[in-house]
Amino acid sequence: MQNGIIILDFGSQYNQLIGRRIREMGVYSEVLPFNTPLAEILERAPSGIILSGGPSSVNAEHAHLVEKELFNQKIPVLGICYGMQLTTHLLGGKVKKGAKGEYGKAKLEIQKSNQLLAGVSRFSTVWMSHFDEVETLPEGFAINAMTDVISAISNEAKKIYCVQFHPEVSHTDEGSRMMENFVFNVCNAPKNWKLTNYIDETIADIKEKVGAQKVILGLSGGVDSSVAAVLIHKAIGDQLQCIFVDTGLLRKDEGKKVMENYGEHFNLKIKMINASERFLSKLAGVSDPEEKRKAIGNEFVAVFDEESHKIEGAKFLAQGTIYPDVIESQSVKGPSSVIKSHHNVGGLPEEMDFELLEPLRELFKDEVRKVGEELGIPHHLVHRHPFPGPGLGIRILGAVDEEKIRILQEADDIFIEELYKNDLYDKVSQAFVVLLPVKSVGVMGDERTYEYTAVVRSANTTDFMTATWSRLPYEFLDTISNRIINEVRGINRVTYDISSKPPATIEWE
Ligand code: XMP
Repeated sequence: MQNGIIILDFGSQYNQLIGRRIREMGVYSEVLPFNTPLAEILERAPSGIILSGGPSSVNAEHAHLVEKELFNQKIPVLGICYGMQLTTHLLGGKVKKGAKGEYGKAKLEIQKSNQLLAGVSRFSTVWMSHFDEVETLPEGFAINAMTDVISAISNEAKKIYCVQFHPEVSHTDEGSRMMENFVFNVCNAPKNWKLTNYIDETIADIKEKVGAQKVILGLSGGVDSSVAAVLIHKAIGDQLQCIFVDTGLLRKDEGKKVMENYGEHFNLKIKMINASERFLSKLAGVSDPEEKRKAIGNEFVAVFDEESHKIEGAKFLAQGTIYPDVIESQSVKGPSSVIKSHHNVGGLPEEMDFELLEPLRELFKDEVRKVGEELGIPHHLVHRHPFPGPGLGIRILGAVDEEKIRILQEADDIFIEELYKNDLYDKVSQAFVVLLPVKSVGVMGDERTYEYTAVVRSANTTDFMTATWSRLPYEFLDTISNRIINEVRGINRVTYDISSKPPATIEWE
């Protein structure tokens, strides 16, 4: 799409956030690698260009640069963090190593407002993450605001604006105003982005990329892979072959539901693999959490590998990778430092001979949900809680066997059913039952019982990095406890997990 805002990616972990902020304003944006040739950028007739942050230094030997001509195109430019240093460096100013750098919140004082800072309070809080700093300005530039260092500069005549802080991050109090100032007042960008445009464009892209080839996709029944599958199916129909691996460690009736929801309702071609025996035999007698995770992960890869090779002529492997997965594992299109490697069971071996198709790669979770709803996937499916790849394998503490899986599935099903019934499911972020390998004494009727203990776990969180335990009503907890003890053979005691993260994690293993 023409006339959007181009974000040149120098590797900051916040880049897609810039894209998202712009999409929220109804304006098209696109993240491109920093070394995209200027001619290619100009072909898109952008309303403005943002130079992103990034982990390196402009003074480093192999610094990431752009063509200097970019600043002479009469296209407004906003340099953020590294982007400010780069602009300074390329236009003849000086950037030096800071004394200590600034990380986290800082107080910004506006000294001379400009179009970017119009309407922003004289003092405000901004989010910093830098070591280098601007020492001398390029010709034609003025200082607009300071923290402990020069934090906003501009050459208004040439519509070049730079900030050392990150306006796209919510910790920058008046960041959205600055972003809006840039997009609308400086760039005059048209408001022509809608989710439906995104869907239409992505479908067109998929059609073009895939042509008449076959695509395979590992469908888990979770939000991301399901939305990806429905989207790709819209583009190429039955050229998409989904593989659903029933590990035997899924929620009660999950396989049946996936076939109903996506196979029947959306007409997706799904090959269901019942691999529970394989997984159970690999797990037999294994009680160490890491070993269990490894066994499940390896087996998943083995099963998927075998099955995918049975599908003749498949050229593409589609995955429901979304932006937070990308940022956790690697750089998007630029040189972002690796934060941590992703540990999803869907992680497939590198030597697999497929080209990747990841249509949701640039979206955040809530955007993926909106895409899903727009495609007609029912609310309760696009708002499902996350479910870990290793499944019930890490919710049965210690060794896993068929009997324990059955017990846990029953108990978990009751908990989830009651959450829906009481309108609580959407009010908590993740809820499930854990089965402890601990037996205790109870009494039922006239009989003494000696059975397992279940833990009810429910967490509230926005990012899953920190979480608090959900304050579920006592009456509700009472209902669950009664139902589980009365209805599930094998459990005679129910406890509620009141641990927050950190120091506890959401899962128990
Ligand atoms: P923790 O237990 O670390 O979990 O607080 C944070 C979130 O990550 C999910 N999780 C996983 N997801 N594969 C996944 O796909 C895994 O191996 C895995 N381990 C934990 C967990 O359910 C929670 O949402």
